[in-house]
Amino acid sequence: MRIDIVTIFPEFFGVLDVSLLGKARRERLLELGVHDLREWTHDRHRTVDDTPYGGGAGMVMKPEPWGEALDALLGQAPAAEGERADALVVFPTPAGVPFTQALARELASESHIVFACGRYEGIDARVADDAATRARVLEVSLGDYVLNGGEVAAMAMIEAIGRLVPGVVGNPESLVEESHEAGLLEHPSYTKPQVWRGREVPEVLRSGNHAAIAAWRHEQSLERTRRVRPDLLPAAAEPEPGTGRQHG
Ligand code: ADE
Repeated sequence: MRIDIVTIFPEFFGVLDVSLLGKARRERLLELGVHDLREWTHDRHRTVDDTPYGGGAGMVMKPEPWGEALDALLGQAPAAEGERADALVVFPTPAGVPFTQALARELASESHIVFACGRYEGIDARVADDAATRARVLEVSLGDYVLNGGEVAAMAMIEAIGRLVPGVVGNPESLVEESHEAGLLEHPSYTKPQVWRGREVPEVLRSGNHAAIAAWRHEQSLERTRRVRPDLLPAAAEPEPGTGRQHG
């Protein structure tokens, strides 16, 4: 998979050299290009923003540098009629569709993603419309809060997507067991020592009884999800009113 990032703060992405994604880059499982938007400006001040039409606070990112940046990264040719464009352009924005594990999984099968990281009050809306003539375009939100720009959101998405690319995480089983993969939050985990500050590791985990361990972990996942994220549970898994019991 290839990921290109366009930003006015390329230095944000230095951390992509470390840890699992750094290793994936060195092993060429992931190709990453970080590009300074200002390289596509032509004035002395390398201007990337201007005042908004219609008034209002803040500045809007100018379309021209973005247009040139996306031309350079996507190629000029439109996809043939009816054919799926090769690249996906992701605009991180609080006004986008929510980023979820399911979306991360979908995006992990893309061959080329371009992250267009806006700042200020966002990017002139014509940029996404223009990009949609030669790529698929998705506006994506990390969550219901406002960041100062798309960089941190892009970084989180790249980490979530990158670790799902085959070969990036050494033991793919560890991906199956974690929070959000089964629609539930993950159960708690323990390691040695058996007793730490008077707190003992639950006995069932030391029993060697794999069926009992699996059942205990599932119950813990359900309990945690019910307590912290009841919105994740399908209606059928909720306790029946008044009985405290479960369906199915
Ligand atoms: N840019 C600013 N806030 C954001 C958010 N919540 N998600 C994605 N991009 C953003």
